[in-house]
Amino acid sequence: MPDEAGAGRRVGILISGRGSNMTALADAVAEGRVPGARIVLVVSDRPRAAGLEAARARGIETAAVERRGRTREEHERELIGVLRAGGVELVCLAGYMRLLSPCFVEEFRGRVLNIHPSLLPAFPGLDAQRQAVEHGVRVSGCTVHFVDETLDGGPIITQRAVAVEDSDTEATLSARILAEEHRAYPEALALVVGGRYEIVGRRVVGKNLA
Ligand code: GRF
Repeated sequence: MPDEAGAGRRVGILISGRGSNMTALADAVAEGRVPGARIVLVVSDRPRAAGLEAARARGIETAAVERRGRTREEHERELIGVLRAGGVELVCLAGYMRLLSPCFVEEFRGRVLNIHPSLLPAFPGLDAQRQAVEHGVRVSGCTVHFVDETLDGGPIITQRAVAVEDSDTEATLSARILAEEHRAYPEALALVVGGRYEIVGRRVVGKNLA
């Protein structure tokens, strides 16, 4: 849904670290691969996150919102305020290492996306790639999903599979999954921004608007 200036849906990205998924999204938007989207703000809970510098280098506004001993909800109230002040309509979690509380989910209900490095519902939570190697699965991958109150449990928007080789370590598998993450996230964002879907039960079903 374009805004009044016709510049697109205002997307904010939350990060905690290097921000490679953030840059994949920003570059895809800049290259016109996510029609109708505009990345307006990148926020980190860690002021020294490398991704903040990468965002600034792309001319994107950034902010750091640290927790600083506050409760999760107090921290998120500030975060919500910063996102609102930036006019953010859609939130993409990209390596944001905190579990969001119900107050955040409620504020942006149906408008928060996350990327996870496994084929959910397998291996939710931390160290998903290590869990996959240790479990001995032959196929893993990545998932982009809507965020609800559950851990990595909201409706799935897209998934990409990656074969697990005998020689794989956590590091080698993570690198191949990451390459797929960088393809999957812009595709999923394009689908959501384009509004070409409906949620039926847990299923995100494509809808032909033509
Ligand atoms: C990615 O593997 C993502 O799936 C997970 O955290 C990692 C973040 O990497 N949620 P980056 O900061 O986007 O490079």
